Amino acid sequence: MAARNVGSRLLGLSAFFFSIPTVFSTPTLDNGKLLSVNGIDYYSGGDAVSTFITSANFNSTQFEDVVPITVIRTDQSVFTKEVLSEIISNYSATDDVFQSGFLETVFLRYEGHGRSQVDSTVKQAFKDLGNSLVMASSAYRPEAHLMPAKLRRDLPKGPYFYSPKTGELYQAFRLYSDHQLAFTEAALSDGAGGFTSLPAAVSVSKSSVAVPSRLYYTPTSEKPLAGLRVGIKDIFDLKGLRTSGGNRAYYDLYPPRNTTGPALQRLIDAGAVVVGKMGTVQFANGDNPTADWVDFHCPFNPRGDGYQAPGGSSSGPGAGMASYDWLDIAIGSDTGGSMRSPGGMQGLFANRPSTGAVNLDNVIPLCHALDTAGVFARNAATWSKVMHAWYENFTDYTEYPKKLFYQNSSFPSADTPAGALIEDLVRKVEKFLGTKRELVNITSHWEKTQSPEIPAISSLLNTTYAILTSVDQYRSLSVPFYADYAEKHDGRRPFINPGPLARWTWGQNNGGNVAYDEAIQNKTIFKNWWETKGYGKADERTCSEGIYIYPYTKGETQYRNAYFSAPTAPPMGFSDGRIAVLAGVPDLVVPVGEIPYNSTVSLKTEYMPVTMSFVAARGCDLMVVNLIEDMEKAGILKPVSTGPRMYPE
Ligand SMILES: *[C@@H]1O[C@H](CO)[C@@H](O)[C@H](O)[C@H]1NC(C)=O
Ligand SMILES: *[C@@H]1O[C@H](CO)[C@@H](O)[C@H](O)[C@H]1NC(C)=O
Ligand SMILES: *[C@@H]1O[C@H](CO)[C@@H](O)[C@H](O)[C@H]1NC(C)=O
Ligand SMILES: *[C@@H]1O[C@H](CO)[C@@H](O)[C@H](O)[C@H]1NC(C)=O
Ligand SMILES: *[C@@H]1O[C@H](CO)[C@@H](O)[C@H](O)[C@H]1NC(C)=O
Ligand SMILES: *[C@@H]1O[C@H](CO)[C@@H](O)[C@H](O)[C@H]1NC(C)=O
Ligand SMILES: *[C@@H]1O[C@H](CO)[C@@H](O)[C@H](O)[C@H]1NC(C)=O
Ligand SMILES: *[C@@H]1O[C@H](CO)[C@@H](O)[C@H](O)[C@H]1NC(C)=O
Ligand SMILES: *[C@@H]1O[C@H](CO)[C@@H](O)[C@H](O)[C@H]1NC(C)=O
Repeated sequence: MAARNVGSRLLGLSAFFFSIPTVFSTPTLDNGKLLSVNGIDYYSGGDAVSTFITSANFNSTQFEDVVPITVIRTDQSVFTKEVLSEIISNYSATDDVFQSGFLETVFLRYEGHGRSQVDSTVKQAFKDLGNSLVMASSAYRPEAHLMPAKLRRDLPKGPYFYSPKTGELYQAFRLYSDHQLAFTEAALSDGAGGFTSLPAAVSVSKSSVAVPSRLYYTPTSEKPLAGLRVGIKDIFDLKGLRTSGGNRAYYDLYPPRNTTGPALQRLIDAGAVVVGKMGTVQFANGDNPTADWVDFHCPFNPRGDGYQAPGGSSSGPGAGMASYDWLDIAIGSDTGGSMRSPGGMQGLFANRPSTGAVNLDNVIPLCHALDTAGVFARNAATWSKVMHAWYENFTDYTEYPKKLFYQNSSFPSADTPAGALIEDLVRKVEKFLGTKRELVNITSHWEKTQSPEIPAISSLLNTTYAILTSVDQYRSLSVPFYADYAEKHDGRRPFINPGPLARWTWGQNNGGNVAYDEAIQNKTIFKNWWETKGYGKADERTCSEGIYIYPYTKGETQYRNAYFSAPTAPPMGFSDGRIAVLAGVPDLVVPVGEIPYNSTVSLKTEYMPVTMSFVAARGCDLMVVNLIEDMEKAGILKPVSTGPRMYPE
């Protein structure tokens, strides 16, 4: 029942942690308002989205300053009790913002042809729902219990907040607590192409994120992502907000950004709704939880016992997606595994795209030659939809390769729990593609096909990634940041987490700019080989000659409370995960299953994710995601849940 419980609280910033006035008498909502409806916290936008025109004898003094309202749009020519109850169950099923408390006041908007009428049974039905005012558009036949009203600007259906005194309507946002510390800052559109941080928190210890009603949005061909709630790794600039890069000094030093970068702008233009900035390993480089996370606390991975590392560097986007049903997708970056590692540790769909998939201006760089931006999702259908809308210039292949490249030494033995899950998936992929795996050995294939003066792949590429990232970020971020900071702080140096600091230092001590140029050459040698003689050849019909698969995570634990030695250098060596990085090709991680472990935290059996990677030729991102989406449709891959288990029993 709609027991009425609307407490209005002023949200002036100064008022907000202290005593909270219970009465708010100014009709305009300068900063918006924090409200509670049936014990659930909401935020009402500060800018009115429309205004009611009501009859002159409407007596607003019987209402509080702000009341919940539902705009119901229907084309039923007779509005019956049954129609009402079906609409309520439809709204409840599709939207987590709407609830019965919003039926306190209602506006019926007829969108069919001709005129409509409200059946006499509806009056009592509304009363039973706690309703005290039904307004109706002029297409409804007048009735004593209906107040004629008109919206100055038409609105989509859904829950809103209404000020009877002024007639103004405000959007309704539900406030969710960020209990996993996945976000760095909640964001709201400022209505003028930029963003503001949300001036609201439900508790002092945890901040909140505000999400708008899903009922406001209907996807169209121009806006295929309409209403999709997205969180953004805090290395991407959003107009109106500061960018932290996971560093407090950096956040404080630079003003709010005056531009939203082109990659995010494409998502926003496609209809995605940005709800906040999310946690990142400092400067998307390398921090191990939790000792290295000095400036910000490491987001929490909900899988297993809840005390496993979330993976990095896109830790916040990964943790948020694995934790919160109310978040639809999250955007991160991948230079050396920063999408795939959180995807693997948290059992999500997570991709590293081909380099150049989207323009990365206005994004904090780790290495310009290697940086990419990817999407986290909990199901392949959403993942695919976002990639199709977001990435530029890729061709949409729907015929799949017949070659499945399989390096035996990469895979765990099929008689281990993780190995068995992966082997089962590989067999299903073989069947789906109508092929058998082709056993490959990259090292020996390299020796056979590479010119003799080129050394073994493990020596050519051992330090390539380490040099490229440590030298580029030192030049493009550290040098200007130190200078800007010193200028403002009397020559002082800003605090840098141990991870990035050790890596920058290592790069300068191991060849600096000279080594960088050599690393670019080595990378180019590998890329050319991969595309012409390796396993990344293009194909006219199927985009890629084949698909190279390898296991990503095998259900390993990585406890947050483990001690480890201090960071000294970037990661070295060549492995499967480096193929996409150095060849610029797509690498898509998908959830496979989960395996049990005995938790030293909970002292119970818990489960960690097993995931597998699909790698294809450069530019074949959409082919691979189409394949993965088709395998989800066929039941071979399954959407994952939020929380401790990907696949709760
Ligand atoms: C409006 O409603 C209030 C409270 O119900 C009542 O006291 C007042 O007399 C009403 N005013 C008019 C003009 O009907
Ligand atoms: C409720 O949703 C169903 C399924 O989308 C739809 O067919 C039906 O028309 C909706 N009912 C009303 C009254 O809008
Ligand atoms: C935006 O900020 C950048 C960097 O601070 C500055 O160079 C540029 O002129 C600004 N642009 C506008 C339109 O204010
Ligand atoms: C996509 O192609 C257009 C036209 O050639 C080009 O202007 C644009 O930069 C390309 N986008 C990316 C991300 O490379
Ligand atoms: C693949 O590796 C397993 C060990 O994981 C080994 O037992 C098996 O013989 C290898 N198969 C081939 C074809 O090399
Ligand atoms: C792959 O080839 C290398 C080089 O020839 C060889 O040393 C290695 O044992 C091979 N790996 C497997 C699993 O056969
Ligand atoms: C990779 O480089 C590191 C650091 O220079 C070195 O210690 C290691 O032996 C190298 N490994 C290989 C396989 O060359
Ligand atoms: C580049 O490759 C050479 C071998 O040709 C190797 O000695 C060198 O360490 C590599 N350097 C980098 C930075 O990748
Ligand atoms: C957990 O511990 C029990 C008791 O030592 C053992 O029997 C069981 O195999 C362990 N389970 C896992 C998943 O390691």
